Order: sequence, then C-alpha cells, then structure tokens
Amino acid sequence: YVGAFAHCVSLTDLEVCEKGAIGVDEGGVIRFVERNGGNGIGAVKEKGGKEWDAAKIVEVKDGFFFPGFVDTHTHAPQHPNTGLFGKTTLLDWLDTYTFPLESSFSDLQKAKRIYSNFVSRTLSNGTTTCAYYATKHVPATNLLADICLARGQRALVGRVCMNMLSPEYYRDESVESAVKDSRECIEYARSIDPKGDIVNPIITPRFAPSCTADCLSALGQLAKETQAHIQTHISENKSEIALVAELFPDSKSYTDVYNTASLLTPKTILAHAVHLSQEERKTIKEKQAKIAHCPASNTALTSGCCPVRELLNEGLTIGLGTDVSGGFSPSILEQVRQAIWVSRFVAMQSPSVSSPNDAAKLSTTEALYLATRGGAAVVGLEDKIGGFEVGKEFDAQMVRLGSVPKEGEVTGGFEEAGGPVDVFNWESLEERVEKWVYSGDDRNCVGVWVRGRLVHRTGRFEA
Ligand code: GUN
Ligand code: FE
Repeated sequence: YVGAFAHCVSLTDLEVCEKGAIGVDEGGVIRFVERNGGNGIGAVKEKGGKEWDAAKIVEVKDGFFFPGFVDTHTHAPQHPNTGLFGKTTLLDWLDTYTFPLESSFSDLQKAKRIYSNFVSRTLSNGTTTCAYYATKHVPATNLLADICLARGQRALVGRVCMNMLSPEYYRDESVESAVKDSRECIEYARSIDPKGDIVNPIITPRFAPSCTADCLSALGQLAKETQAHIQTHISENKSEIALVAELFPDSKSYTDVYNTASLLTPKTILAHAVHLSQEERKTIKEKQAKIAHCPASNTALTSGCCPVRELLNEGLTIGLGTDVSGGFSPSILEQVRQAIWVSRFVAMQSPSVSSPNDAAKLSTTEALYLATRGGAAVVGLEDKIGGFEVGKEFDAQMVRLGSVPKEGEVTGGFEEAGGPVDVFNWESLEERVEKWVYSGDDRNCVGVWVRGRLVHRTGRFEA
C-alpha cells in the first residue's frame, strides 16, 4: 500500500507520512512499514526484497491511508429509526420508537434486508470492527453474524436479553430461556468462525432496568463459563439511574449492580458512562472493564455530556460508539467530531462559558485515537488493529479528498466532489487530516480493508 498514511501512535501523537509504503502479506499481516518512500513503489521492492517483486501495488492519490474505525457500540436493528427521537429521552424513546421496531425482527426476511444494509453503511463509513446489539431473536441474531462474516467486517454480535420491565410483546420469558437463547447464539457464532478471526459472540443484557438480578447473575456466570465478551449500557440518563436505584435498593450504585452479577470483566463494554461517581469509575478501572463513549446519542437524547477527558486522565479505556439510533449517524468520523464538540461543551460548563476549561477539551488527534486504537483496546484487539505496525493486521481505509473540477472538466457530479476540498494541494498532510475530520464523510472513504481483504470500494477507488 503505497503513498501517504496517517495513524495515531499515542493518545496525543498523530504520525503522518507523505511517502510511505506498507507491505502486507497474503494473510493480511503488516510485514514492513517504509517511511522514506521517495518513489514509493521502488521502496516496496527495496524494503521487501525479492519476495515482493510480484506484490500487487495499491497506491493512494490525493489522500491517505488511515486505520479502519472501531465502532464500540451500536444497534443494527435500529437502523430504520435513524434520525427519529423527537423530544424524547431514553426511557420514553425506548417505548415509543425502539421496542416496536426491534420486536419486528421475528421476521427473518426483514432482518436480512435491514442488517445487510446496515453492515454496508458501517463498512462504507470506514468501520472495520463493530460491536453490535442485535435483538432478542436467535435466528435474526445469527443471521447478523453470517452477514458480518460474509462481508468480512470484524464484529461482536450480541443477542439482547431483557426479562423485566419490557413490553409483553418483546421480552424474555424466563431467566432460563434468556440464558439458553444466549448460549445458542454464542455457539452459533463460534461454529461459523471457530478461530474468531472475524466474528465473535458477545453476551448482551440490555441494561439493568430490563433484567432481573438473577438474570444478570446468570449471564455473568455464562460469561465466566464461555469466556465471552459482555456489553451493556450504564449510567446514560438521570431518570434511568434513579430507576436502577429503585429496582436494586440493595446496590450501592449502578456499577455495583453489574459488579454484583460478575458482569464487570476485562472483556466488558459499558456504553455511555455519562454520570458515573468517582467510586464507580474506580470500580470499573479495577475490573478493567471498557467504556463506549457515544457523543451524538447523548446529545440527541439529552442524556448528558460525558466528561471523557476526565475519564481518560483517570486511566479508563475508551472507544467511540455510534449508538444508532439513539445516535443519528452510522459514521465514527461523525462521532470523532461529536466527541470533540461534547468535550468543548464540558469545557464551557466549567468554570464558565466565558472562561472555558481548556483541559477538558479533546484534540483532533485524541478523538481519532479513541476511534482507532482506543476502540481496538475496548474490543480486546489492541495487539491486532488500530495502527500501522509490523505484526498488526491491515485494517484500513483509503481516504481521498474532494476536488473542484478543473476549467472545462466534466465531472461525475455531486459524489465526485464530496468532502474537504483539496484544490491547490498546499496544506500539510496533518492539515488534510484535520479537514477530513471536520468536513469529510463516506464519500471520502473510497476503499476499506479488513485483514488485507478489500471489503468496500467506491467509484473513486483506483488501484
Ligand atoms: N438503554 C437500553 N436500551 C438502549 C438502547 O437501545 N439504546 C440506548 N442508547 N440506550 C439504551
Ligand atoms: Fe445503545
């Protein structure tokens, strides 16, 4: 892969390389990273030696390679509701929009159409790894796993458990049936991808208010037995937190409810974490559970502003989540922007709007780190993905910037000119990355690879 690349080497450092070459073997593993490409194609031969003579060259023009994005929290069945939230907040949003739609996934044909389309949408936005909530339905959940495997998108696929405070028409009948159905989905995902290279199961208690204490504990035991990942929601909205306190009067906190049920493990993803107390953060850190920050969703449902900078300072592991359809976009690039925006609102709340606390602000690099390496750590793949290093697997997107047609040039129209404008080519590569972050979209994501396999391309992809 020849040409410019950029990636985050740490939370605060973005490495950019104008003339690079990344050598990827047939197994999708990065074998060399050349930074002084000069004539990039020549560098491949020089650096790699004879065995690279026959290598296929993929060159990026007016753009750069960037690591694939990790979406650490989204709901595939809620795709048709994207943009629908009105003035609702979490609990009435669930009843009004979410449960009626999710319950309809007993219809496998409908599930197939929506899941196929959603996986296409996340892939086309550069998401190479995605942690999915499905629904309570076993066949539809297994179908989502099939689709991710066929399309080549790394995925954690979770069958949703909910045996309490859920509508009659959409709930688990018993703890036993919730565990049995979850087990069936775990076994299915492991049967279609035994090594778990692409698809893995994830145990998914919807959130504390929709599961009884014995259901949560049974799922904690199932996680222990199967060594599976776990995902759930935590401390998203104040009414939800009050409801948890009412439903679990013996627990010290929302976090304590999950801890008591053995649901806080190094393989646990907790979505939102907006209103955690100091003590809760400490417990989550001790248990090495991870956090999915979902900024667009938190603003859409007016859940609150997550103090991400503070959580990072305290050493928590954080990635970004689109949380469709609480969130209104399947794009992690959009979450990068939203995370920066939310951090600025946090900064303007304290000490005051007129004297914002700069320390609360996320930088562009920090937000991109959360979207790639942070997310990789959240899903337990920090050794495999998130950046371009020898030994890591090549999960990447080819980003091309937009252009203004030359004098008299006939263009293909709107889609050809999308995103940041790169007319004179005068910016530094770092500045081009900034322009992409603030004004880019899926039109700029022209090719996507997972483990070296091309899983998405647009008309602007040239190789
Ligand atoms: N809490 C419980 N269920 C959901 C859901 O579907 N989306 C969000 N954002 N929060 C939840
Ligand atoms: Fe969610």
